Amino acid sequence: MPKSWSPSSWRSFPIRQVPDYPDPAELASVEQQLRSYPPLVFAGEARNLKKALGEVAEGRAFLLQGGDCAESFAEFHPNTIRDTFRVLLQAAVVLTFAASVPVVKVGRLAGQFAKPRSSDTEEIGGVVLPSYRGDNVNGSEFTAEARIPDPKRLVQGYSQAAATLNLLRAFAQGGYADLHEVHRWNMSFVSSSPVNERYRDLAHRIEEALSFMEACGITGETTPSLRQTDFYTSHEALHLGFEQAMTREDSTKGGWYDTSAHMLWIGDRTRQLDHAHVEFMRGIRNPIGLKCGPSTDPADLLHLIDALNPQNEAGRLTLIARMGHDQVERKLPALVRAVKREGRSVVWSCDPMHGNTIKSTTGYKTRPFDRILAEVRGFFGVHQGEGTYAGGIHLELTGKDVTECTGGAQAIDDERLGDRYHTHCDPRLNASQALELAFLIAEQIKQERADLRLAASA
Ligand code: PEP
Ligand code: CO
Repeated sequence: MPKSWSPSSWRSFPIRQVPDYPDPAELASVEQQLRSYPPLVFAGEARNLKKALGEVAEGRAFLLQGGDCAESFAEFHPNTIRDTFRVLLQAAVVLTFAASVPVVKVGRLAGQFAKPRSSDTEEIGGVVLPSYRGDNVNGSEFTAEARIPDPKRLVQGYSQAAATLNLLRAFAQGGYADLHEVHRWNMSFVSSSPVNERYRDLAHRIEEALSFMEACGITGETTPSLRQTDFYTSHEALHLGFEQAMTREDSTKGGWYDTSAHMLWIGDRTRQLDHAHVEFMRGIRNPIGLKCGPSTDPADLLHLIDALNPQNEAGRLTLIARMGHDQVERKLPALVRAVKREGRSVVWSCDPMHGNTIKSTTGYKTRPFDRILAEVRGFFGVHQGEGTYAGGIHLELTGKDVTECTGGAQAIDDERLGDRYHTHCDPRLNASQALELAFLIAEQIKQERADLRLAASA
C-alpha cells in the first residue's frame, strides 16, 4: 500500500459495489457541487466520539449503535426520526441504569442511504433489472427506469441528512433527552407488550434517584448531562464519490475528516485490504468501523488493523462482528485472540442482525429474535472466555411498531410478518423487541463486569 494518501487516492484502486451511472460527467459535476456544501459534522465532534470510543475500548463504557438498515426518501418524516431517536434513548437508559455503564450513542441515520448488494441484478418473474442500491443511488421500485442510478439523488441524500441531523441535535440538546422525561419516552404501542412493565419499573426507579439527587442539589441546572446527551451519527462509507466530496481538511488541528457523519464503517463486502474502500478509510481521521463476517481470516484482520489503525489509537477502530448465531462461537475466538495477542486496541461490537437473515415460510426476509439473542449471548460468551470486553452492539431497529423480525415478547410469527412489513432493505427490530434486547444485554454486561472484577481481584 503506498504511503501517500489523498481524499481521491482510492480512485486508482480496484473497487466493488459501484453503481453503473449512465452519465459519469453528471456524477462528477454533482460531486463537485457537493464539495462546496457545508460539512454536516465538525472534526472536533468526531474527535470527541473517538475519545468516547476509547473509553469503550478500555472497558469503561458501552457502544450502542443502531437505526435503519436503509433510510428512505419516501419515509422522511420528523416522527420517524423522533421514534428512532426515542427508542435509542430508551435502550441507552436501560443499559446505563441496569448495567451501570456510560453508553455512547451512535445512530445509523442522517446519511445511511447507500446499500451493498449480494448480486448486481434482481430477477422477478423472468425480468432482470439492476439491483436497488439505496435511495441516494436509484429507486427501489421494480422498473427499469427507477433502477437507473441518478447522481441528483446524492444531493437529496445530503439535504435529508442535514435536516435529520438538525432535528437530532435539537432533540439531544434542547430538552427531549432530559432524563426527567424517561417515563414519557415510552411509546403507546409498547404498553401492550410485557417489556413495557419492566421499562416502567426502571423509569420509576430513575425518577426516584433523580428526586434524591435533586434533594442533594444535583439538578439539570448544575449537571447538564441530566438534561442533554451526546448523540452521534454514522453510516456505511460505501459511495466513495460522495464521501470524498464531504471530506475536508480540519482547519483547526489539521488532518482530513469525512464530514458526512461522525463515524463511518466499511461493510463486509468491501473490506479487501488492497481495494478502494480500505484505501479511502485509512486516511480519514474519524472513528471508523469494520464489519467482520464469518469469512474474516485472523491474519487478514491484523493486516487490516495495520492499515486502518497504524498508531494503535484507542477508539479509532471498532470491529463489528456479524457472524450469525450458529457461527459466532466458532469464528470469533480466533479473531479476538489474534487482536489481543498483538496488543491492538479495538472496540469489539456485535451486529447480531446480518448473519441471521432468513426467508420466512410466507416469503418475507426476516430475522428470528431468538437467533439474534443467541448471537448476542455467544458474543458475550466468547469475550468472557478470552478475558476481553464485549464493547458494543450494532442493531437495525426502528421506533415504529413494525412486524419484520419474528419472535420477541409479542411472538410475531411468519403469518403476521405481512401486517406491518415496511423496511426498504433488511428487517428491523421494532421498539419493543429492541427494548427487550437491551434488557438482555444489560444483564450480560453486568455479569461480564462482575466476572472481570472478580478475576482482577483474584
Ligand atoms: C448493513 O449493515 O446494512 C450491511 C449491509 O452489513 P454487512 O456489511 O455486515 O453485510
Ligand atoms: Co442491513
